[in-house]
Amino acid sequence: MAMLYSKTSLGHLALQNHLVMAPMTRSRATDNIPNSLMKEYYAQRGEAGLIITEGTSPSPNGLGYPRIPGIFSPDQVKGWRSITDAVHDKGAKIFIQLMHCGRIAHPLNLPEGARVLAPSAVAAAGEMYTDAEGLKPHPVPQAMSGEDIASAIAEFVRAAENGVKAGFDGVELHGANGYLLEQFIRPNTNQRDDGYGGSMENRARFVLEVAEAVIGAIGRDRVGIRLSPYGVFNDMPLYDRMEEDYTYLAQQLNSRGLVYIHLVDHSAMGAPPVPDAIKATFRELFKRTLILSGGYDAQRAENDLAAGKCDLVAVGRPFLANPDLVTRWKTGAAVNEPDSATFYTPGPNGYTDYPALPRAKQ
Ligand SMILES: Cc1cc2nc3c(=O)[nH]c(=O)nc-3n(C[C@H](O)[C@H](O)[C@H](O)COP(=O)(O)O)c2cc1C
Repeated sequence: MAMLYSKTSLGHLALQNHLVMAPMTRSRATDNIPNSLMKEYYAQRGEAGLIITEGTSPSPNGLGYPRIPGIFSPDQVKGWRSITDAVHDKGAKIFIQLMHCGRIAHPLNLPEGARVLAPSAVAAAGEMYTDAEGLKPHPVPQAMSGEDIASAIAEFVRAAENGVKAGFDGVELHGANGYLLEQFIRPNTNQRDDGYGGSMENRARFVLEVAEAVIGAIGRDRVGIRLSPYGVFNDMPLYDRMEEDYTYLAQQLNSRGLVYIHLVDHSAMGAPPVPDAIKATFRELFKRTLILSGGYDAQRAENDLAAGKCDLVAVGRPFLANPDLVTRWKTGAAVNEPDSATFYTPGPNGYTDYPALPRAKQ
């Protein structure tokens, strides 16, 4: 079990091990501002090589869910600054996940004046939670104008610049799980007939323009992206040309030189399996760091690293439930199980109160 816990690098960054804490929305950011409770939570998990934060909105329009943080106001930058300092003190590096929810939003979750936007006016099936009125049907989003697209790109750039100001080592563009970037990639949500819709070259344009603009602002070693080929979360059905489309994306992202691609596999959460072939395609076509995630335990992580399937492994729920996950996996200690009832509830319960092993036993 050597590789998982050995030092490595990500672009110019030195990482203390190969384990990444996967991005997880925890909905503790009252008023969308990162706070001291969140600082405690992230600092507790500072044994990771790299922490990727919960999805964080680049703008008021992107704040689809209740109590998710933003990175567009001075108070948000200040709140995040104290978190990045605390995490760095523990030896981990930290990227902020930039998540624009697009159509996965409800006006009741948005600040006054913000709009539910998407490539096309196609509502997601089903309902979403609001603090004000509980479950509500997904609204029909407004189709973005050319001006809206330009503004959204500018918002990602400002958010990335704010992230650097707040002490982050980089940003992860959330191109997975049915949020705005993936809404442009997929044909069910992108029915545009301008240069941003139709062919895959056009459906990939927004994602690539965001990536290029953010790289232009903060440098390619600070920009990664998360993608979910074959993902169906948030009403994103499978379609025939999926493999070709994501192969194109792998090539294009490789030529932009992003520091990493982070692939999602939610088959451990009941989603359809992600074919090994598409992971292998990304491995072959993308020359920088590849992160795999989804359903990993220590043994599988070690095996996939040793087999060269990826460079880093990201872990979600085990990190959520075990602040000292690295120590526990390394020593073969028992692990706490996550309690899904408190994944998104306010306050410390099920958040900062998962116990670490007593120090003497470490
Ligand atoms: C409570 C919770 C919140 C999540 N929020 C996000 C998120 O904000 N952004 C994201 O890309 N993935 C999110 N995910 C998905 C995880 O990053 C990860 O892909 C998933 O949990 C599977 O990995 P695991 O089996 O190691 O938990 C979330 C998962 C959970 C359990």
